[in-house]
Amino acid sequence: MRRGSFVQLLLFAVVAGAIGVAIAIFPNWLPPAASREAGRIHFVFWFVTGICIFIFSIVAAVLAYSIWKFRRKPDDDTDGPPIHGHTGLEIAWTAVPALLVTAIAVVSGVVLAKDDAAGADPLHVNVVAQQFEWTFYYPTYHNKMSPVLRLPVNRSVVLTMTSKDVIHSFWVPQFSQKQDVVPGIHPTLHITPDKIGTYPVICTELCGLGHALMRSQSIVMPVSAFDKWASAGTSTASGVAPPGGQEGLALFKQEGCNSCHTLTAAGATGTIGPDLDKLQADAAGAGKPLAAFVHESIADPNAYIAPGYPRNVMPQDFAHTLTSAQLTSLVQFLVSSAKKGSS
Ligand code: CUA
Repeated sequence: MRRGSFVQLLLFAVVAGAIGVAIAIFPNWLPPAASREAGRIHFVFWFVTGICIFIFSIVAAVLAYSIWKFRRKPDDDTDGPPIHGHTGLEIAWTAVPALLVTAIAVVSGVVLAKDDAAGADPLHVNVVAQQFEWTFYYPTYHNKMSPVLRLPVNRSVVLTMTSKDVIHSFWVPQFSQKQDVVPGIHPTLHITPDKIGTYPVICTELCGLGHALMRSQSIVMPVSAFDKWASAGTSTASGVAPPGGQEGLALFKQEGCNSCHTLTAAGATGTIGPDLDKLQADAAGAGKPLAAFVHESIADPNAYIAPGYPRNVMPQDFAHTLTSAQLTSLVQFLVSSAKKGSS
């Protein structure tokens, strides 16, 4: 290739490369990394993106240069020159991609291995997913239950996941990892949060009507604050509960009722299911005494469907997953808040 042609080709490559870099850098593609694993995953992302920009600029430059330089005149019907290939070029365009793909594989393998290494003493948290709520249990702290994923900063955490019903998927964007939660198996995810802050926990698998509302929070705290929180007794709900209704209120939240129903006494504003502040009207509509109606609606939800709501959205298994004492406190809590709401 003549010197002038090479300079022109180089110019095309620089322009194509600049376009590629601008597209890669200017939009904010990634949320800020808040875990060590996320930092490594972002490194892999930029490593691969850099290689792609490099290859893109070469291919785009050769293509653009050829279209511009070797274009025939409109009335030129002669054959093109006979070409028998170029051994050196063919070796180059086989060897270079092979090297690059190998480099990507090695870098990815190292990051995967490092991200999975939880060390000798990780904090274990059991993550329970159900339509449409997340619950977190801390087995090393008397199985403390929390609707929010609180984590100490800079400590390895192993999340062990369970689904009570359908497939959900655990995702904290700032941790850069997703994990499907499939019923019947208990997948694990290792994270090491390294930035104090509050991040969303999002269900990222379409799991039913309330999927879009199946969200919680992950709060990454200083170690001392986490220890204080984890060692304290199970937190009780704020003082809006009717007297004697603490257990019912706790169950209401723990079982995820608040993500689908509105109930002032629980500070719940869900709209997937019927408004529980209007329980007395619904019981009258069903022609049943209030307490019996509430009990039936939890134990056998399809027995009476409030007008305008679909069947089979309310979980069908509370009669089996709750003890009869739990069921009773939940019913008492709902009945007393319904009566209180109407008086
Ligand atoms: Cu659970 Cu979507």
